Amino acid sequence: MNAYSQINVPILEQPRAFVGFSLKASTHSDRLLELNFPKSTVDAFLNAVEQWPVQALEYKSFLRFQFGAILNSICEGTLRSVLLNTLMDRATGGLLINPEGLSEVSQAEDMVKFSTAVAHLLGRSNFDAMSGQFYARFVVENVDNSDSYLRAPHRVMELHNDGTFVNQITDYVLMMKIDEQNIEGGNSLILHLDDWADLDKFYLHPLARRSLRWTAPPSKNVKEDVFHSIFDTDEVGRPTMRYIDQFVQPENAEEGTWLFDLSESLENSASKLSVPVPVGSFLLINNLFWLHGRDRFTAHPGLRRELMRQRGYFSYPKLGHQHGQTAN
Ligand SMILES: [Fe+2]
Repeated sequence: MNAYSQINVPILEQPRAFVGFSLKASTHSDRLLELNFPKSTVDAFLNAVEQWPVQALEYKSFLRFQFGAILNSICEGTLRSVLLNTLMDRATGGLLINPEGLSEVSQAEDMVKFSTAVAHLLGRSNFDAMSGQFYARFVVENVDNSDSYLRAPHRVMELHNDGTFVNQITDYVLMMKIDEQNIEGGNSLILHLDDWADLDKFYLHPLARRSLRWTAPPSKNVKEDVFHSIFDTDEVGRPTMRYIDQFVQPENAEEGTWLFDLSESLENSASKLSVPVPVGSFLLINNLFWLHGRDRFTAHPGLRRELMRQRGYFSYPKLGHQHGQTAN
């Protein structure tokens, strides 16, 4: 591990006790925490928002924040700071969230509601051009006719960041499992930048800061190319990354071979975590210092996986300017 995770930034005041949820290190890594909501919290939330279908969330953006506020108040105000602290803490930055009782595809609407509430305690989910909504549901099946590896089941989807081909900052990625039939394999693969042994080799290379061109395939409904470098530096000097192998367009052999080496290094990293996500659960990671991908599935004619994603930006009170909040 390199030293970047030791650089601390002020975080929000942590509640002394958690109400309505529990938090512990996952079995995969100390960087990935597991946040469990008991059925009583999930049921209380779903009852409180019962009058609003998902369509209402789609039509009225402000309701998404209200859903967050309702969930936070069921947790007596203790949830929001834990979510923000964990996602912004360089040493962690990742959560596996398990809302107890959400485990069937018939509850898909409730899953969208619950995860929307969680995401809107962090910030706001961006418009997803693939679906035309603030979230996207999509299905992976045994046969794939799409134009990227998102729905291709029999190969690894390589490690990448999201939001690389849009001109919007994507601070977080939320990936929820809605359904799974006849699935073997297909675990989520994630890698924390500070666990990647070759980070400095690439981060300190001159090409790390070169602006490259990024083009999305037609299914993404994004027509304009965007230009940005793969690496950047956050406000306290730690590396961040915006990279995806499928959509970067190297201009010449120098860039092409460097990108090939980068991809090989990431895919062969010994620190990659392989995380099974149960139906109804979701991963929520800091997109600027975690990469994600998906392992291959074993072929099966009845293979079906349905996923939901949200990507967005953080929005939170500035430290030191908010009554009752202290920097530590
Ligand atoms: Fe992705």
